[in-house]
Amino acid sequence: MSLGRLLDGVQTIAILCNQWGDTGKGKFSDYFASQWADVIARGTGGNNAGHTVVNDGKEKVFRSLPAGIAYDHLGKINVLGNGMVLDLQVLSEELDELQKEGMSYNNLLISEDAHVVMPYHISRDKAWNQTQKDGGIGSTGNGIGPCYADKIARRGVRIGDLFDKDLLANKIKRASAFYPEHKLDLEEVLSRILPLAEKIRPLVKDTVVHMQGFLKRGKKILLEGAQGLLLSIEHGTYPYVTSSDSSLNGTAAGVGLSAKVVDLPLGTIKFPFMTRVGGGPFPTELGSTTAEEYCGGEGITKLFELKKYRIPYVKRDGGIHYDCHHRTILNLMNSKDPFEQGVGIRLAASEYGAVTGRPRRIGWTDAVAARYAIEANATFNIILTKTDAVAGAEHFRVCYGYKQGPSTLTTFRRAPQFLRSVRPSYSQYEGYGDINSLRDEANLPQSLRGAIGDFEKFTGSSVAIVSVGPQPDQTIVTGEAGR
Ligand code: GDP
Ligand code: IMO
Ligand code: MG
Repeated sequence: MSLGRLLDGVQTIAILCNQWGDTGKGKFSDYFASQWADVIARGTGGNNAGHTVVNDGKEKVFRSLPAGIAYDHLGKINVLGNGMVLDLQVLSEELDELQKEGMSYNNLLISEDAHVVMPYHISRDKAWNQTQKDGGIGSTGNGIGPCYADKIARRGVRIGDLFDKDLLANKIKRASAFYPEHKLDLEEVLSRILPLAEKIRPLVKDTVVHMQGFLKRGKKILLEGAQGLLLSIEHGTYPYVTSSDSSLNGTAAGVGLSAKVVDLPLGTIKFPFMTRVGGGPFPTELGSTTAEEYCGGEGITKLFELKKYRIPYVKRDGGIHYDCHHRTILNLMNSKDPFEQGVGIRLAASEYGAVTGRPRRIGWTDAVAARYAIEANATFNIILTKTDAVAGAEHFRVCYGYKQGPSTLTTFRRAPQFLRSVRPSYSQYEGYGDINSLRDEANLPQSLRGAIGDFEKFTGSSVAIVSVGPQPDQTIVTGEAGR
């Protein structure tokens, strides 16, 4: 089917995750940036994000930069918005890496209002939030929470402050007083930060003025969401969330626009399995709290699991490669034991953190949670991702209700106590084989089409795109697109 109908009359798109992150925002930001957008902007989070783009079999992970930066040479404009928190060291490394790979960033704009992640934010985050032990959140340890806390407390350091040395020194001294455990050496911090600030100085702008101008001039704008609705500080499973509002509203505000100007909010959803990384409730998790604890444990990595289950692998180009369809993986995926089934899907779908390498927790797609997210994000057009990754599973399931005592509830409530008190009620479907090479909706396996239909009906959404692999061409635009 044609993308044209989906994009007919559309000036502004947002790609937003309707789960707990890692649902292929990177793939689809790249997809629309390459063939449609003039401007690609991020409005929330920072380098807690890991957005993967695969082109010609080569994988690239973006952390603070929007995936559209790869099209800078075509004159496309990329924006790091006012709602972001930026670690200058990481940003600088990302820019250096682009140069090393022969890519430019001539049209990158960095908001003077974005906040700066300081060393004391990182040390506080690592000390207080990184562990998952004793109910810990399991943050990415990048200083995101403390940086946003300082922003809200009105003592944060903004990008624009970096260019007034006295103001900056005063702000750092004042803010760092709230981190007594961090022995601040102001001169050392300044000597590290100021050269990084100089490097980005020509790119620093009042990006809100630019964004409003792009909108008025009819530029095609793509907002690249980060994290996911269920991780939003406003809408997520608080306190097991990130510290920004990763919803449509937060993402638009984070680039200085109103959500009202977004013509096409697209919601990404992994289907028929989903993931979560870090602590927090996850009703459909395979292996439930055993899996949660295991995934939050020390030393559980891709390499550890490959060795544990004796799956052959090779180390190449800085990555670990193995056959996702290896017999042992298929056996695990079809195990009667839900924990093992979770391990099998993790290995089959290679669900390990793009940045942290942590194992992602695995469960069947939760349509109750998805409906809540779709409504909160107003993303009634859906992109289903990773549908190919469970090839070889004899059956798959989708959750359409929560059992609590004698009742089956169909309304999502985000309180962790509630989510931990329910058990999923599933519909089961026949499994299917390899679908990576399919390009036509009509050829999708009958059971998958049936499950998609049930999901659309339950959630009140339309599946506009089905993703059948990490590469841009492994994308099926459905007949529902643009209806
Ligand atoms: P993001 O944070 O939402 O951008 O997602 P991540 O990049 O963290 O994780 C998504 C992973 O799935 C990446 O490794 C992508 O390359 C990969 N991916 C995206 N869509 C598909 C798909 O349809 N099928 C498969 N097999 N992989 C996909
Ligand atoms: P992308 O954009 C998945 C999770 C962390 C932790 C919680 C808080 O790649 O989808 P933080 O460091 O933000 O304070 O951590 O949020 N988290 C993510 N999980 N994908 C992400 O980003 C995430 N960003 C944060 O694991 O549970
Ligand atoms: Mg990610």
